Amino acid sequence: MRESKIKTVGKASLNYEGKDYELPVLAGTQGPNAVDIRKLYDQANIFTYDPGFTSTASTESNITFIDGDKGVLQYRGYPIADLAEHSSFLESCYLLLNGELPTKSQMEKFEYTISHHTMVHEQLATFFRGFRRDAHPMAVMCGVVGALSAFYHDSTDITDPRQREIASYRLIAKMPTIAAMAYKYHVGQPFVYPRNDLGYTENFLRMCFSVPAEDYKVNKVLAKALDTIFILHADHEQNASTSTVRLAGSSGANPFACIAAGIACLWGPAHGGANEAALKMLEEIGTVDRIPEYVKRAKDKNDSFRLMGFGHRVYKNYDPRAKAMQIQAHAVLDELGLHDDPLLKVAVELEKIALHDEYFIEKKLYPNIDFYSGITLKALGFPTSMFTVLFALARTVGWIAQWKEMLEDPHQKIGRPRQVYTGPTERKYEPISARK
Ligand code: CMC
Repeated sequence: MRESKIKTVGKASLNYEGKDYELPVLAGTQGPNAVDIRKLYDQANIFTYDPGFTSTASTESNITFIDGDKGVLQYRGYPIADLAEHSSFLESCYLLLNGELPTKSQMEKFEYTISHHTMVHEQLATFFRGFRRDAHPMAVMCGVVGALSAFYHDSTDITDPRQREIASYRLIAKMPTIAAMAYKYHVGQPFVYPRNDLGYTENFLRMCFSVPAEDYKVNKVLAKALDTIFILHADHEQNASTSTVRLAGSSGANPFACIAAGIACLWGPAHGGANEAALKMLEEIGTVDRIPEYVKRAKDKNDSFRLMGFGHRVYKNYDPRAKAMQIQAHAVLDELGLHDDPLLKVAVELEKIALHDEYFIEKKLYPNIDFYSGITLKALGFPTSMFTVLFALARTVGWIAQWKEMLEDPHQKIGRPRQVYTGPTERKYEPISARK
């Protein structure tokens, strides 16, 4: 069990129906303080109402810190820009899982362990073949990752720390293999086995783009770009899919089932599906001269259209991941000689216009990570249907680190929100013959 580092730093008071209630105010190491309402219902018979958890801290965590107003994102205290520039995805995985950057020997051991868990049970290939060929790769991912608990029974006992550790390694290591298999199945090509002599991201690119007739030569610039994309997506504190993983895990569900739940949540267009939606939007806009029409639609209250890749629940400033993403987008397009790409032109111009538009300024709507990731992933050769799969691959380590932290939390309880009920009050059952 982990020790709580939360400190009580003051008191808030609530006056309700003529009675005063004192509520402790808690502080972490950075970020806003929180009013502790755990005893409020017992003492005052009142709930708090916060749909979408906009003002609710659901847990104590020491993994990732975000200051949305300042545009800050840190993994275990390290700024995301530093990790994107200097770290590798696997090193960032080690950091997220263990809390510290690895020494050289720790890193070598970690790389060895992960690379020696990349193969999947051969029977899993048969499982894939049960899906329709035209199935969305995210539908396949949800199914296959959920099924892992049926293949790896020896790492589903969450009370055993060693089994938890092995399940974590298995998920991080097998995710690229499963994602590449989902891609290969989608495009009708044979599965490609992993190779242990390649790095994590290089191996993934090869499993996606190699065919028996021709091996794939990994381009270092492209591999670095994808590795950086993975770092940028690795964790994002208590976002919807991570909270889903924690909620699923709070009931004691096995790690494979929890990660499958996270993948299902990630799929939605307001979350991980936004990179696919952002690219489709840029394609739909097509040319720079059509941008004003789309900006006008985004501002129209009677039109459901939104600028995909803009806005964020937490960032009310430039998404710090979007900056690193933009650098990689340019590096990939330069390397591939695609700097005149019409989509990039639309993206750059759209960003410029939106950043100077009163509506977007007033609502603090800035480009988020998905704005540039779609263009980059397309240039790397991935179809749009794979974008969210790549996000899921990268986010797996964050989900696992958060799931592990939840299980070690001394205050851990099954997640069980309450509600403000507005349905009918008690009424009498009438037999069907008496109903009008
Ligand atoms: N285009 C136009 N207007 C927008 C947009 C947008 N992309 N995003 C928010 N708004 C407006 C919205 O209409 C609302 O206006 P009003 O106050 O007049 O009703 C206001 O801004 C606040 O929006 P909200 O929906 O209440 O904000 P939220 O925090 O609930 O939503 C969001 C955040 C990300 C779902 C939303 O900004 C959005 O739908 N963006 C487009 C989808 C997208 O890019 N998602 C990726 C998020 S980053 C990846 C990840 O971490 O998962």
